[in-house]
Amino acid sequence: MSKEENISVLLDEKRVFKPREEFVVQTNVKQWMDKHGIKNADELYEKADNWEWFWEEISKELVEWYEPYSKVVEWNPPYVKWFIGAKYNIVHDALDRHAHSWRKNKVAYIFEGEPGDVKKLTYYDLYIEVNKLANSLKKLGVKKGDRVAIYMPMIPELPIAMLACAKIGAIHSVVFSGFSALAFRDRVNDCEAKVVITCDGFWRRGRKVYLKEQTDVALEDAPSVEHVIVCKRTGDGVPWTPGRDVWWHDLVFDASKECETERLDANDPLFFLYTSGTTGKPKGIIHAHGGYAVGTAYTLKWVFDMKDTDVWWCAADIGWITGHSYIVYAPLILGATSVIYEGAPNYPEPDRWWQIIEKYNVTLLYTSPTSIRLFMKYGEEWVKKHDLSSLRLLGSVGEPINPEAWIWYYKHIGNERCQIMDTWWQTETGHFIISPLPITPLKPGSATKPLPGLAADVYNEQGEPVQNAGGNLVLTHPWPGMLRGIYKNPERYEKTYWSKFKNVYLAGDVARKDEDGYFWVQGRADDVLNVSGHRIGNSEVESALVSHPLVAEAAVIGKPHSLKGEAITAYVVLKKDAAPSEELRKELREHVGNEMGKIARPDEIWFVNDLPKTRSGKIMRRVIRSKALGQDVGDISTLANPEAVKEIARAK
Ligand code: WT7
Repeated sequence: MSKEENISVLLDEKRVFKPREEFVVQTNVKQWMDKHGIKNADELYEKADNWEWFWEEISKELVEWYEPYSKVVEWNPPYVKWFIGAKYNIVHDALDRHAHSWRKNKVAYIFEGEPGDVKKLTYYDLYIEVNKLANSLKKLGVKKGDRVAIYMPMIPELPIAMLACAKIGAIHSVVFSGFSALAFRDRVNDCEAKVVITCDGFWRRGRKVYLKEQTDVALEDAPSVEHVIVCKRTGDGVPWTPGRDVWWHDLVFDASKECETERLDANDPLFFLYTSGTTGKPKGIIHAHGGYAVGTAYTLKWVFDMKDTDVWWCAADIGWITGHSYIVYAPLILGATSVIYEGAPNYPEPDRWWQIIEKYNVTLLYTSPTSIRLFMKYGEEWVKKHDLSSLRLLGSVGEPINPEAWIWYYKHIGNERCQIMDTWWQTETGHFIISPLPITPLKPGSATKPLPGLAADVYNEQGEPVQNAGGNLVLTHPWPGMLRGIYKNPERYEKTYWSKFKNVYLAGDVARKDEDGYFWVQGRADDVLNVSGHRIGNSEVESALVSHPLVAEAAVIGKPHSLKGEAITAYVVLKKDAAPSEELRKELREHVGNEMGKIARPDEIWFVNDLPKTRSGKIMRRVIRSKALGQDVGDISTLANPEAVKEIARAK
C-alpha cells in the first residue's frame, strides 16, 4: 500500500492508536493512579475535576515552598493567584535543590554547537554559573522587580542568564535571536529593561550571525538600558561602548560562587514574553513563579513521562514559550537531562537531528509539525542511517499536525513504537492544556482532551457549548500557569481574553469537539498567522511594510503552505511616485526582515492599486484571502469599494 492510500484509509476508518499495555503500566501517571486508588482514566479525569484538591496534591510532589501557602487558588476573574501566601522562588526547585542532592553531578544540559563542539553541564556546574552571574547582576545594580532583556541564541548561557535573573527576583524578557534589531528594540523599550544580556554572535547554517551588532542598533534608541553583558560565543571582535558594555567572563571572573536565592511571593512575576496579537504591538505576557512551576513540571512529568533515566530533547528555541517552559523550567525542576542544539536542523546534512538522537540516546523528542514536514521532504533515507531505538515517546506542538505528517513521524521516527503527544497550548497558558497522556488512545490530528485538572470547551457565538461543530476554543476555569496579565496594559488583557464570554478564557482558536470529547483545533480565529508554528500578527507585518517610504498601504494574509503551515502573502499599494518592480519586491521583503526578523519576510508580495475596505476603513483581510485562494468572497456589498476585490485577482 502506498503512503497516500494509507492515509485516506486512516481518515475513513478514524483509526485509533492505543498505547501498549507494557508501556502504560510503567508510566508516571499510572503509578500516580495506583497510589491514589484510581482504577481507570475516566476516574482520573473525574477526580481531577475537583481541581483545587488536585493541584494541592500535585504541588506537594513537585515543589518546595520556603513558607507554606494558606490557600490553593484565588479567582477574581479575570485575575488569578495561586498558592496564596507562599514564599517561593522557582530557582530553588530548578537548581538549588539538585545542587545539594544526589543529582549534583547529574548532567542538566548536553549542549551541541552547530560546528560540533560539545559541552556538558551538571546541575552543580549550572548552579555555580547561575550564582556567579546573579551576583554580578546585583553588582550592576539589578534589583528585585527590575527587567533584564535577553537576546541570545541557543547556548547554555541563555538558561543561565534566565535563572540568574529569577534567582535575584529580577524579571527576564527573552527575545528570540532570530528577531531583528528593531523588534528587539520595541520589546526592550516596552519592558524598560535596565540591563541587556547578549553575545558576540552565533552559528547558523555554517555562517555567523553577528548578534552584538544587532544589539547595538537596537540600543541606539533604548534609554532605559544602563549595561550590556556580552557573552563570548564565536570569539569575533565586536563594536564596544565603554562604560556600558561588559564581557560576561570579565564580569563573573571574581564573583562569588554562592548567591542566596531571593525569597519571593509565589505570585511575583518570573518573566515577560512577547507574543503577537491582532493589533500591531506585541503583548508582554506575564508569568509568575509558583503556579507556573507547578503547571510546567506536572505536564512534563505526566505527558512525557519524564524519568531520571530519560534524555529529553525539546527541539524548540528558548526564545519562544516552548523553550522557556520545556527546555528551561520544567526539565530542571524535574532534574532531567536535556539536549540543547545551537544550529539549523539540516546542517551540514539533513540527518543532523537523527545523529544527535543516536549520539546522546535521546529518549523523548518534542518538535513541531513544520520540522516534521521538512524532514519528510528530505526523505526517510536520512533517518534510516541512524539508530533511533532509544526513543520512547514523541511530541508535537505549534499548529495542528496533519495526519500525513503524524503517520510519517509515527512510522519513521518512532518506528511504530512511540505514541505521539500532540500538545495544544499557548504563550498565555504557560504549559500544555489539551494533550494526551501516554495512556490515552490517539487519533492523528487531535490533541485529545484537556489534561486532568484542566478544563476546555468549544462555545458557539452565544456562549453555549457545542459538540461536533466548529466554535471558539475556551478554557473554563483557571490553571496554574495562567498568564497574570499583559504588561502595562490591563485593558488589552481584559478585552483580548475575557470580553467575549463571561469569566471564560478565549483562546482565539477555532476548534471542534467530537463524540468522544476529543478536541480538533483548526487554527486561529483572529487575524494572526501561524508560520512554522509561531504566531505572527498580520498587522505587524503590515505596519513593517507601511514603514517603507514607498508603501502607502498593505494587507497581509496567510496562504496554506506545505512546509510552513502558512505562507505570508502581502498586497501592497504603493505611493503615487513609486512604480512596481522586481527590485522593489526584493527590497520590501528585506525591509520586513530588517524590521521584524527573517521569519516574518513575506513569501509573496503583490502590487495593487487599492485594497477592499469596510466603510469605516478597515481592510477586509477575509475577503482578500478568499479571493486570493479562488474561493467565494461572499456578500461584498457592504464594502466601501467592492471593485477593489477585482484588484486582488489582477495583482502583479
Ligand atoms: C497557538 C499558540 C505553545 C507553543 C508554541 C506556539 C497553535 C499550538 C497546537 C497544537 C493545534 C496548536 C494554536 C495556539 N497551536 N499548539 N498542538 N495543535 N494548534 O505558541 O506562539 O503562543 O501560539 O499555536 O493556534 O493558539 P504561541
